Amino acid sequence: MRIVRDVAAVRAAVAGAGRVGLVPTMGAFHEGHLSLIRAARQACDLVVVWLFVNPTQFNEAADLAGYPRDEERDARLAAECGADILFAPPVEEVYPDGFATTVTVSGIADVLEGAHRPGHFDGVATVVAKMFAMVAPEVAYFGAKDAQQVAVVRRMETDLNLPVRIEVLPIVREPDGLAMSSRNVRLDPDQRRRATVLHRGLAAGRAAVAAGERDAGAAAAVVARELARASITAEYIAVVDPDTFAPLERIERPALIALAARVGPVRLIDNMEVAP
Ligand code: PAF
Repeated sequence: MRIVRDVAAVRAAVAGAGRVGLVPTMGAFHEGHLSLIRAARQACDLVVVWLFVNPTQFNEAADLAGYPRDEERDARLAAECGADILFAPPVEEVYPDGFATTVTVSGIADVLEGAHRPGHFDGVATVVAKMFAMVAPEVAYFGAKDAQQVAVVRRMETDLNLPVRIEVLPIVREPDGLAMSSRNVRLDPDQRRRATVLHRGLAAGRAAVAAGERDAGAAAAVVARELARASITAEYIAVVDPDTFAPLERIERPALIALAARVGPVRLIDNMEVAP
């Protein structure tokens, strides 16, 4: 596996390489990332892993400063999973002097994460559009934990006629249910234990829907009650259409319960599909 820092080198590497698969990441790899790299390896001729802690999608300086970084470990893991190229550009390669263009996806990017993290999805959409332009992948692999990110990227891909297929892989969870996240390493042991309630809350919501609950507010209240047992108040618990992220009042078809909550200083997100 080669580590590449500049756009010219990545362009030269992908030229004529056959089916190129791109795995966009901000590093600090866990099994979720590795499942994406392995899926790309299975399906593509050339696998490019993008590793860039994108400053423009962080709306809190402390979150950016504390974001875990370990390129050496990430490079080793990416190579073990069969990546061909680790594309880890410096900030000035991605945002050169005078950079002035932003991709804004309206509507779908304004709710939930978008409402609680102003500017976040502008940062995501812009950097994803840029990496698609730099690497020209046939397929790009995303994880379902960031369900709204997936919906925003799909909207952008459709609206801008981007010649890339978006593949989404399931959330990878720890044995106790906690969704894998690079931010989990920042939880102390007590917070780590309490964080498992996010998954239990979502599972309780799903069970309520399976048992006949059709009122979205009531289903969300089931989740909130579970979180309260661990003294956690969610930033939001929303029942939405999985494609448009439009809020639902009634659950008459497959839906997504999405939530964000702070456990100590660490903001975590999770989601679960529910079906009547
Ligand atoms: O999901 C992530 O890690 C990031 O949001 C992404 C897609 C790599 C853009 O920086």
